[in-house]
Amino acid sequence: MQIKENYLLKKLNTFGIQAIAKYFVELNSIQEIQEIIKSSHFKNNPYLLLGGGSNILFTKDFDGIVLKINNKGKEIIAVDADNVFLKVQAGEVWESFVDYCILNNWSGIENLALIPGNVGTSPVQNIGAYGVEVKDCIEKVEVLRIADGEIIELNNNECKFGYRNSIFKQEAKNKYIILSVTFKFSKKPTLITHYGDILKELENMFVTPSLENISNAIKNIRRCKLPDYTLTGNAGSFFKNPTVSKEKYEALLIEYPKIRAFPSGNDYKLAAGWLIEKSGWKGKSLGNAAIHHKQALVLINKGNATGNEILALAKAVQHAVLNLFGVELEMEVNVV
Ligand code: EPU
Repeated sequence: MQIKENYLLKKLNTFGIQAIAKYFVELNSIQEIQEIIKSSHFKNNPYLLLGGGSNILFTKDFDGIVLKINNKGKEIIAVDADNVFLKVQAGEVWESFVDYCILNNWSGIENLALIPGNVGTSPVQNIGAYGVEVKDCIEKVEVLRIADGEIIELNNNECKFGYRNSIFKQEAKNKYIILSVTFKFSKKPTLITHYGDILKELENMFVTPSLENISNAIKNIRRCKLPDYTLTGNAGSFFKNPTVSKEKYEALLIEYPKIRAFPSGNDYKLAAGWLIEKSGWKGKSLGNAAIHHKQALVLINKGNATGNEILALAKAVQHAVLNLFGVELEMEVNVV
């Protein structure tokens, strides 16, 4: 374990922002994580936990220690007639893990193919796409409690999962380091094909639904709609889809009959991409930051954008949507 000084984080955040960490350390095992939290570098500095760097926007250098969580490993811990239970270390790369499950014919996360990030950060914002959220497959999350170094487990209920939300973004923020996630997958696939263009894409591919075909269909749709962060810096959806009351939705519907919305309990979830597009920002730039021309929910780094340029664009979009629709957009990305 080596603590580096003045470390450039550009390659470690999918926005590709040029931020510098005063101290940086890569942690390849739970032992190293336990060791670092006892160190003076950790105790005497602010710290930042970094997984795949796919949901973070640096607006300044980080004047503290960045911990890159990188412990790897996958272990089957139980199998029964219908399910397999898998304990996966936090530093495993999400995309490869999804492919590994498909190869083994374990079903549950195939609709979450090609999402950038790591296994250990998937519960934090309860990643979701194409009709599935990761919470549907999580049994428990193993964490290290920073206050006393104890390793404890939180079951699915205790994680308080919600739409792009969990205890790790709320009351437990900065209290725990996620070490591993235990998943429950089905050995008998339940295929989820109702969402968006999945069926249409399967038809285009001339294939029938299967774990692998669904995952490939979703990869095709994502590649077509979303920019590749290795070429164009971005962090996926920058905002959450906002929830409004039935009354607010019905009022908007009178004025905007084409508004895209989905029932969500007693409320309605509005498609933020549609709101942003209607506010006129789709494809527009502000300095070196822009709104993606194919998906208005995605902000991109056109080249050498600073975090503050991206943030200024995000605020301009929030302002425009609030002015036009009276709806507040909440950022999904963590701004540091
Ligand atoms: N729409 C527009 N204009 C746009 C973008 C979208 O009118 O520029 C409309 C679409 O026509 C559609 C609706 O908005 O009717 C929803 O669009 P889409 O299916 O692309 O999904 P989304 O709500 O924009 C969410 C997730 C994505 C996830 C997709 C697919 C959030 C914040 N985002 O996007 O997740 O991949 O659904 O399930 O919930 C992410 O979190 O980083 C992410 C990419």
